[in-house]
Order: sequence, then C-alpha cells, then structure tokens
Amino acid sequence: MKKLFVGMVVVLVGFLAAEVAVAEKDTIVIAHRGASGYMPEHTLEAYKLAIEQGADYIEPDLVMTRDGHLVARHDGYLSTTTNVADHPEFADRKRTIQGKTDWFVFDFTLEELKTLRTKQPRVSRGKQFDGQGTIPTIDEIVALAEGYKGKRKPVGLHIEMKRPDAFKQIDSELDKTLAALFSEISSKDIPLFFQCFDGNFLLKVGEISDVPLVMLIGGKPNMEGDWYELDIALEPFAGRVAGFGLNKALLVNKDGSATDIIDRAHSMGAVVHVWTVRNDQLHPMFKTVEQELKALYSMGVDGVFTDFPDTAISVRNSLKLLEPLIAND
Ligand code: G3P
Ligand code: CA
Repeated sequence: MKKLFVGMVVVLVGFLAAEVAVAEKDTIVIAHRGASGYMPEHTLEAYKLAIEQGADYIEPDLVMTRDGHLVARHDGYLSTTTNVADHPEFADRKRTIQGKTDWFVFDFTLEELKTLRTKQPRVSRGKQFDGQGTIPTIDEIVALAEGYKGKRKPVGLHIEMKRPDAFKQIDSELDKTLAALFSEISSKDIPLFFQCFDGNFLLKVGEISDVPLVMLIGGKPNMEGDWYELDIALEPFAGRVAGFGLNKALLVNKDGSATDIIDRAHSMGAVVHVWTVRNDQLHPMFKTVEQELKALYSMGVDGVFTDFPDTAISVRNSLKLLEPLIAND
C-alpha cells in the first residue's frame, strides 16, 4: 500500500495553494450519524450535540423494525452499538444471516428495541456515554430538528435508507412510506436530502416525491488494487438526482492530483457530498484532519459528512476569514 502515499507532497502543495478558491460558496457540514466522534452514533444526544455545534444537516441512516417503524442505525445488526447481548430475554433472537451471527433490527419490535441502551462501537473513542441513549425513531429525529426552529438556522436532515431490499417483506411499499415521510418533513420547512446506495430504489422514490436525491457511490479498487475508481457511471443519473454522495477516496488520483469527478458532477448540475471525514481516521494523503478538510473544500465539494462537525465548521470558518484578503488580492 506504499503506493497510496506517492504524490502526497504534490497533493498537499496543490491543495494548500488552492485554498484561495474555497470561500466562494458555503460547503455544508453534515453530521455523520450525529456528532458520532463524541457520542454513540445515531442517538438523539449525538444529533443534538451536532446541532449545537452548528452542523447544517444531521444524518440518520434508517432501517426498519419488525413492526414497520423506521429507526436510526447504520447496521442491520445490534451487537456493536447496543447492549443487546446483556439482555437474556433476547438471547434466543441471536441468529446467523449470510454468515453474520448477531441480533438483527428486523427481528425486534420498536417496543423491544427501546429497552436497549446504546454504546460507542469504536474502541478508540470515549465510552463515557455508554448505556444512556436509546435507538431513536425517525419521528423523534424530525421532532428534534423541529425543536430548534427559531433558535438557529434550520437544521436539515440528510436521510439514508439502508438496504431497502432487506425490508421488502415488512413494507412492500417502502418507497411510498418514505415519500409520505419526506412530504411531512418538507411541510415543516426542514431542509432535506434523501440518499441511498441502491440507485433503482433512489430513483423510484424520486418518481413519487420531490425530495432532492443523492446517489451514494463507494467505488472499487482499480485493476492494480492500489487505488479507487468509480464502480457506477455518473451520467445515467444526470438530471435525475440533485447530487452524488462520494467516497472521499474517489476524489484524488494516486499521483496526488484531483480526479475529474467533481467537475463532471457539477457539469451535470449535481452537487457532491463527500464521506467520511474523521479526526481519528485520515485519508492516507494527509497528516492532519485540517489539511484534509482544506483540501476537500478547495476541490469544490458541496458538502462534507463528518463524525466531528465542530472541526469541519472551524476549518470552514478559518478559510472564510481569508475571503477579504483574497478579494483584495
Ligand atoms: O451516507 C454517507 C455515508 O454515511 C455512507 O457510508 O456506510 O457510513 O453510511 P456509511
Ligand atoms: Ca450514511
């Protein structure tokens, strides 16, 4: 993987020189699973902290319970983010699906899930909030965002539906369920995006809803296995989505130059929201998260998903301070 570091100097010099281009627009800061760098992910507390840090959007990943409630979890399984293993009454719910042995959200009712408490899944992050939060429903998250009305700039929801196919048996009309949810959220004047890795499902929802769509693309290793490239063409989505949610690995070539993906998306009129910036897990080309953020802002991304919204906002603010200097140049 040493090749990953080739061009580090090139990219740093290029991006830092390009700093001047940053402040032309307001890149949105999207709190990835809430302020999940500080608190257990996808809890009301993590979302609340993100909002109070000034995040423009909070990001719920949605999955569905056995009785058809949409709740926030990144994974369909529960052992890493909750204390389900400590509940003897659920011991017999543990089972193996496609090689994964765990407790699965769709085997629990909402009432049952609410008896669990959340925990920090990453060993390197603080455990002091473990055992306090519960798994929130999308309705609770909407109410949280609504509660900040008039207190700050409206906080938006950047909602991802996880693996829609997995929930077909519970809700065969999930597209309609989501369209109704988005209509309700929009009626409350809460800014909204809908993201999904499943392009067919995303577009299907787009056919029955006005929600701005964001196509998620993770990319794949290239032939040599030493870098990342697109695994889905952008062009079929032209004019059909508001933007692309891209893995940050797709934005930089291995020689350190920027790929053309942002320009291609922008030429289609689509925004680019990039994931995921983490203070404790940097892109290999950068030595600090500040360098990484400056590079992304400089490249012209329109949004950044981050576990640490306060850092992304602070770097964005520091670049904005340069604006008058740039204007006088
Ligand atoms: O939705 C953007 C980003 O969160 C995609 O990755 O796996 O963290 O949901 P993931
Ligand atoms: Ca997500």
